Amino acid sequence: NPDALARAEALIATIPDFPEPGILFRDISPLLADAAGLRTIAMAMAEPFVGRFDVVAGVEARGFLLAGALAVASGAGLAPIRKAGKLPRPAGSVSYDLEYGSATIEMSDDLPAGTRVLLVDDVLATGGTLRAGQQLLEQLGYEITGTAVLMELAALGGQRVCGPVHSVFTV
Ligand code: PRP
Ligand code: MG
Repeated sequence: NPDALARAEALIATIPDFPEPGILFRDISPLLADAAGLRTIAMAMAEPFVGRFDVVAGVEARGFLLAGALAVASGAGLAPIRKAGKLPRPAGSVSYDLEYGSATIEMSDDLPAGTRVLLVDDVLATGGTLRAGQQLLEQLGYEITGTAVLMELAALGGQRVCGPVHSVFTV
């Protein structure tokens, strides 16, 4: 429903100069707080993959906000991909570069073999985070059905790093 999607997109706030001068921060909190908007975007993120995944994996922290909503809306389970040091039994680990420095993500391996996973995050920027997520899921032997985000920052070229990524909104 294009009207519902347009209404949802209008709820995303654009904040100049956060977290530092020159950066336009996209704050999805008002959209998440809107019941119809949240449902609309959860369905739209999952739509190309319906019936082809068992679990939604979200990347800490903002990916968690969407992963739970997608999982329930799709009748799927949920698996967290966490920043390093948070899991009691990490089974896989991938490091990646950020604008400043680097980060490491980890995951447990308690999904059944052959589990079909939809990988999600809030934003695709340079693609480093989702590439690391894909590598982590591959490392653990899971089947990646697809990768989806709410919003893609097209100018940063993330699709070349970890695409194809399904994005609901492109800015
Ligand atoms: C942000 C965002 C994505 C990632 C996108 O996460 O939530 O995960 O950056 O950037 P990339 O495509 O260039 O990798 P961030 O690590 O800032 O932290 P948060 O999710 O924990 O808030
Ligand atoms: Mg993030």
